[in-house]
Amino acid sequence: MLDSAEFLTPAQIVAELDKYIIGQHEAKRHVAIALRNRWRRLHAAPDMQREIVPNNILMIGSTGVGKTEIARRLASISGAPFTKVEASKFTEVGYVGRDVESMVRDLVEQSVNMVKLRRKEEVKAQAAQAVEDLILDILIPPVTNAAQPAAKPALGFPVAAPGEMPDSDHELNERTRERFREKIRNGELDERKIEIRVQHTSGPGISVMGGPGGMDEASMAGIQDMLGSMLPKKTRKRKVTVAEARKILLDEEAAKLIDMDEVKDEAIRQAENAGIIFIDEIDKVASRSGKGGGGPDVSREGVQRDLLPIVEGSAVNTKYGIIQTDHILFIAAGAFHVAKPSDLIPELQGRFPIRVELQSLTKEDFFRILKDPKNALTKQYEALLQAEGVVLTFDDTALERLAEIAFEVNSEVENIGARRLHTVMSRLLNDILFDVPDRIGPNAHILITRELVEERLRDMVRNRDLSQYIL
Ligand SMILES: Nc1ncnc2c1ncn2[C@@H]1O[C@H](COP(=O)(O)OP(=O)(O)O)[C@@H](O)[C@H]1O
Ligand SMILES: [Mg+2]
Repeated sequence: MLDSAEFLTPAQIVAELDKYIIGQHEAKRHVAIALRNRWRRLHAAPDMQREIVPNNILMIGSTGVGKTEIARRLASISGAPFTKVEASKFTEVGYVGRDVESMVRDLVEQSVNMVKLRRKEEVKAQAAQAVEDLILDILIPPVTNAAQPAAKPALGFPVAAPGEMPDSDHELNERTRERFREKIRNGELDERKIEIRVQHTSGPGISVMGGPGGMDEASMAGIQDMLGSMLPKKTRKRKVTVAEARKILLDEEAAKLIDMDEVKDEAIRQAENAGIIFIDEIDKVASRSGKGGGGPDVSREGVQRDLLPIVEGSAVNTKYGIIQTDHILFIAAGAFHVAKPSDLIPELQGRFPIRVELQSLTKEDFFRILKDPKNALTKQYEALLQAEGVVLTFDDTALERLAEIAFEVNSEVENIGARRLHTVMSRLLNDILFDVPDRIGPNAHILITRELVEERLRDMVRNRDLSQYIL
């Protein structure tokens, strides 16, 4: 978290990114500095905090070289709310389509989810206790005085005064309850069916329609929420196992224990100070011909003009409250094969002072991408087959050949960067994935050799001009 004193240093951030992303050292250094700067800002003198603006970053690089991955990992390393949007999906205000402010609302939504999750984690123990009591009450209802039937005068011996009962019954009940509490705890009753009440909002689904020129999304969502909360919260009976009941009730009890107003405030604060918005395909809204002309260029420029106030800092209305966008970190990315960064309107260029070019990946990079990252494709497939009890291993020479093939297909068909590795790997392993466990039983050990790669990918290599249809 950004507030934590032991926040990662730039070098540590790069080291974390290195676990997932091969190469791209320039880009890693820049994002590491940007991230640390946010921590620095929050620990700077209060009167300066407002003045320090983030140095937004423009990443320039072809598809599949790691732009999105770097931004995404950066967010997860720091536990920051993150959202990714494609600039080309937006249309100018007043046109049908998504307005640019929706990205800020998405960010806040993410932030709310994160804070809610964190708070639920904090109250988990307390909620679990409450759930245990609820389940226990269903299994062995407590003997309360009120629950006692009226005195039984017909029996002809002294009865307890109304509202009392013999101590021994109380004790017996208590002892039984404690025994069952123990059983619930150690899972002995997990399979037992019980009936619980679960909450659900009744009534037909209400949706508020809006359109161009109508209410903005935030007000619509607000009204929708309000209508939702006005409907009676009905409960419904369900027969479930104790194990299932524990899961269902835990969520309900945890929700009761967290203060949603506090969650909203904290979520807005987190989004404002730690939020990261990744704007992909920014080059698609840069107009090459520039001035005048009309047509799509005008609307592209309109999107840029709409982006400007958000990136410069403005207040955006969301259903959780108003968020100030001044200190959100924006990372924009694009291939810029046709348009150039200088084709963006100058005001927007000025808001992305840090430009970093990502390198095209080499054969050697591909080899390392297959092998080294924590989430490397080879490791993913190994884990999938591990689940079937099958051991999969790759020879380095096989990986070298795979990297080479991916690289060649990229240069001759279409350069999709490291994404090509996904298609090459799935091509290589598809038959094996189909044959396990029917034809290749558990305890098998499959070694992927260079020869096997040659054999399986022979067509792909031979028919390069066809491979665009094959892949
Ligand atoms: N430098 C890299 N190191 C490791 N994996 C990478 C690298 N570049 C791309 N990838 C992988 O390729 C895929 C696409 O990467 P992505 O970051 O989405 O590319 P883009 O540059 O188009 O945003 C992801 O699965 C990602 O993990
Ligand atoms: Mg991308």
